[in-house]
Amino acid sequence: MFNTIFKNIIPKQTASPLLHNDFFESLRKSDYSRLDKQNHIYLDYTGGGLYAQSQLDQHFESLKQNTFGNPHSTNPTSLHSTKLVQQTRDNILRFFRADEYHCIFTQNASMALKIVGECYPFDQNGHFLLLADNHNSVNGIREYCKNKGGTVDYVPINLEDLTIPRELLEQSLNGSEKSNKLFAFPAQSNVSGVKHDLEWIEKAQKKGWDVLLDAAAFVPTNVLDLSLFKPEFVSISFYKIFGFPTGIGCLLVKKSAFEKLKKKWFAGGTVSLASAATPFHFLARDHERFENGTINYLEIPAINLGLHHMESIGVQRIKSRIDSLSSYLYQKLDQLRHSNNVKQLEIFGPKNRENCGGNMIMTFRKPDNSKIGFEVIEKITNTRNISIRSGCFCNPGLDETNNCISNEELVQYFTSRQTGDYWDMIASLKKMRGATRVSVGIATTQKDLETFISFVKSLKDQIIR
Ligand SMILES: Cc1ncc(COP(=O)(O)O)c(C=O)c1O
Repeated sequence: MFNTIFKNIIPKQTASPLLHNDFFESLRKSDYSRLDKQNHIYLDYTGGGLYAQSQLDQHFESLKQNTFGNPHSTNPTSLHSTKLVQQTRDNILRFFRADEYHCIFTQNASMALKIVGECYPFDQNGHFLLLADNHNSVNGIREYCKNKGGTVDYVPINLEDLTIPRELLEQSLNGSEKSNKLFAFPAQSNVSGVKHDLEWIEKAQKKGWDVLLDAAAFVPTNVLDLSLFKPEFVSISFYKIFGFPTGIGCLLVKKSAFEKLKKKWFAGGTVSLASAATPFHFLARDHERFENGTINYLEIPAINLGLHHMESIGVQRIKSRIDSLSSYLYQKLDQLRHSNNVKQLEIFGPKNRENCGGNMIMTFRKPDNSKIGFEVIEKITNTRNISIRSGCFCNPGLDETNNCISNEELVQYFTSRQTGDYWDMIASLKKMRGATRVSVGIATTQKDLETFISFVKSLKDQIIR
């Protein structure tokens, strides 16, 4: 009798362990239903965020209803564009609480980083310090520094949990006598998902460093409050936050550091005055100095809609949702074993996933504990309509750390040939490179996670070649 009573009380389905589940399930239905219509399991949000249907509807309606002219003129259609671009710029600054910053529109985060590389006053007195955990678009800045006679140093990353080695970084920050010192790190690793401590910004500044914070992987699911943390330079790509539009990013520059960036040329829109008969020009005094030529004035207003979408959900709510998705996924995946008790996955990064975002990387193991190539995994997930990403994610520092590739091996490889690539290096070093990355985002549901977990389970005891 008790059984019958309890059967009636206990709900048939147990509640989801994920935070804000009802809200995000219904958001998925209203704004991201194309995923389900096309049967996609999308787990590549760090590669690119997804746009909501409502963002598109509003943006295309605005394009249909209005006439947009090229800004920088006083004609009515031009003024309309100028107004919307200005509103967008103001909204971006408000979104990041960046009263003390200029917002320079760029094509993407990489082009934002390129401005810093090109224009930071690296010379013999220049020093570029960076974490080994950085995207190649940050790593590449070292070439500007080196070519102008500056010094470049990397701070390695802790092998066991891919966090910052505090003492080493402290030593490096203390160890430079140079006058133009730039320290670069990502707010969140695009590979491990580790969120590096933003307190390093002020610590570095107190020791005379300018700080470049690459926020591209952090801002889609975290509040970045630039009234609390004030790096000199911040790089962002908008498609990573809300999917549409692609091709627009920004560089946020603290006003007090603006004149430190030395622009080497000028282009349309970047000068207040230029002469052809004489060699004179005056550069624009604000963001316009770095926005070469015509900005993407048809799509910049769509950023307003993206920001509005984020705010209507609440970035803090997105963050807690992402925390619950990724810790659920981690716990489930970490338990998976072959019948002989060998772990199916090696997941890199902190074991408790404390202070990690929505992306994690892993390698798949066979029952004999040898690794399965990431390309083999991707081939199988492709056939199941699961979108994940594999390789080294443009972050060679973390990949070299995870795959224990020594400096000697790297030097030997690079100095023994004129060209090379990933596959050649794997063959030559006879060491694995790369991993599989899974990343969750705004539209991820429990079903997506369960599908991926089932996929991993389906490889149990399989001898895959
Ligand atoms: C942390 C980080 N920085 C920079 C970039 C470069 O962004 P984009 O390709 O949009 O220029 C990426 C892209 O994945 C990234 O994840």
